[in-house]
Amino acid sequence: MCGIVGGIGNLDYREFLLSGLRKLDYRGYDSAGLAFYNNGKISLYRAVGSVDNLASIVPEGHPGTAGIAHTRWATHGGVTVENAHPQRSYDKKVYLVHNGVIDNYKELKAFLAEKGITFRSDTDTEVIASLISYFLNEGESPLNAIHGAMKMIDGSYALAILFTGTPGLYFAKNKSPLVLGRGKGRINCLASDYAPLMDSCTGFAALEDGTYGVMSQNAVIAFKDGRNIALAFSSRDKEDYSYDLEGYPHFMLKEIHEGPGVMRKNVKNHYDAANGYLFDKKLLDQIAESDEIVLLGCGSSHYASEAAAAFFNTNGFRAASYIASEWIHGIYPRPKKPFYILISQSGETADLISCLDMIGEETPTLGIVNAKDSTIARRCSNVLYIEAGLEVAVASTKSFFGQLALMMLVCGALRKDKTVAEGILAAADSAEQVIAMADQIDAISEKFIAARDAFFVGRGFDFFAGEESSLKLKEIAYVHSEAYPGGELKHGPIALIEKDIPVVAFVGNEELSKLIRSNVEELLARGATPYIVSSKGCSKEGDAFVFPEVRPEFAPFPEIAFGQLLSYLLSIRRGLNVDKPRNLAKSVTVH
Ligand code: F6R
Repeated sequence: MCGIVGGIGNLDYREFLLSGLRKLDYRGYDSAGLAFYNNGKISLYRAVGSVDNLASIVPEGHPGTAGIAHTRWATHGGVTVENAHPQRSYDKKVYLVHNGVIDNYKELKAFLAEKGITFRSDTDTEVIASLISYFLNEGESPLNAIHGAMKMIDGSYALAILFTGTPGLYFAKNKSPLVLGRGKGRINCLASDYAPLMDSCTGFAALEDGTYGVMSQNAVIAFKDGRNIALAFSSRDKEDYSYDLEGYPHFMLKEIHEGPGVMRKNVKNHYDAANGYLFDKKLLDQIAESDEIVLLGCGSSHYASEAAAAFFNTNGFRAASYIASEWIHGIYPRPKKPFYILISQSGETADLISCLDMIGEETPTLGIVNAKDSTIARRCSNVLYIEAGLEVAVASTKSFFGQLALMMLVCGALRKDKTVAEGILAAADSAEQVIAMADQIDAISEKFIAARDAFFVGRGFDFFAGEESSLKLKEIAYVHSEAYPGGELKHGPIALIEKDIPVVAFVGNEELSKLIRSNVEELLARGATPYIVSSKGCSKEGDAFVFPEVRPEFAPFPEIAFGQLLSYLLSIRRGLNVDKPRNLAKSVTVH
């Protein structure tokens, strides 16, 4: 995954690069590094672990006239200083940082090895540096050397490159995001996303695949297929990239608190009581004319899409939800006239981009996306932004609320049913009250402290809340957790139930309440410790937690608020790094 940042011109490089990395470390945080260009020479600093570890070895006031930096999520080679970026070419003429994966790096390595070139690291990135240097040594200019290498490389890359003895910050991009930023007062920068550029730049351009070029402090020159191209720079709203804890101890807690507000914002953006729904009619017509709505996503975005598909189905539209990385294998039915909805917080998820490659440009698509101008947002034929603002914690929270609310609103608009907008507003209030009852949830989290395993059960819409809550518990509290529809337990999983294993049962639907409660009895009889989380209308004496009543199809909002907080509070109790859990990255740009 990885994040890259670079700049040239009137910058305090140490500060710019380190603070940029801190804003990008959601993309990976197992090691970090940077390089300064100064008077023809390049100095390199790399460290295993956090950006703080890197900061501790980079001298204050380090001189430089350009710089590049990287935060890593290891794909090729272990977490070592030698594998951290920037990577150097064998002859130290080329230093670069890379986000992406080079598919044919073994072949390229063999090609270079034949020429007598040796390697210091296990990374695919070092191969790019030495390949560019190979072309330099063949007499090519830096730009032509980059272009020569691009023609040989299969795979994804966003690259920021420095050349020993040649001023200028060079770049190249294919299938990994890269944004250029133009600053006031002779500054040009680049990064994997907008956040690190917001303080220094006022104009931004997201690059297309196949673009490469060079920036000085005064100009940016870009090429595609050997031809000079013009870049269109536009402004961005700084608020969308606000990176401030605003008094909260962790981003995850802040973002859980923001969830209900994101739901209300989506209602406000797409509905008004006087005029009804405000979506583009053409978009609604395209959906209505399809014979099936196919929803694609990964992780939490997939769970949001499962709940949304059920919502479309129960409102009279045929819809199906698939995990993006499985859908691409062609094992699911292909409707004759599909309408595809691709759901993604980051807008950069590789598995989802592969779906777009398969869908092609003829079939209508809608991106439900948070990150503005991201690859998925640009490539879908329609896009609706969930307007959740920057989500910094690796575990998705407020985005889930925005995604599900927005898809439900689209469904409400298709049916011209104002009770959908009203239901979402009521669910936002209910979720907000759940969040206000954090002390009660914390008391429950104490009982999970020694748990190695846990279960979430539910029926109907409540099951989706179980899936998403279970994912949260795994991700940030490292509890092995399974989510099952209540009726499915007896078909196998109940064999795992042992004394004291905690089971959270969501009960948000009066009609299904009896059934799920009898499933809970079966678990109790086998020694489990159940925690029933019910809506007011479904609640019974002895339930562990009761949330304010909402219609059953909206119950996932308060239920998931409970699941998010339970996981957060348990993670804190266990002393874990809640915003940056192990092995994960926020933007999953590899397959
Ligand atoms: C879970 C989580 C991941 C993402 C998944 C998809 O908390 O954050 O499961 O939901 O990687 O990411 P996006 O939505 O960016 O496509």
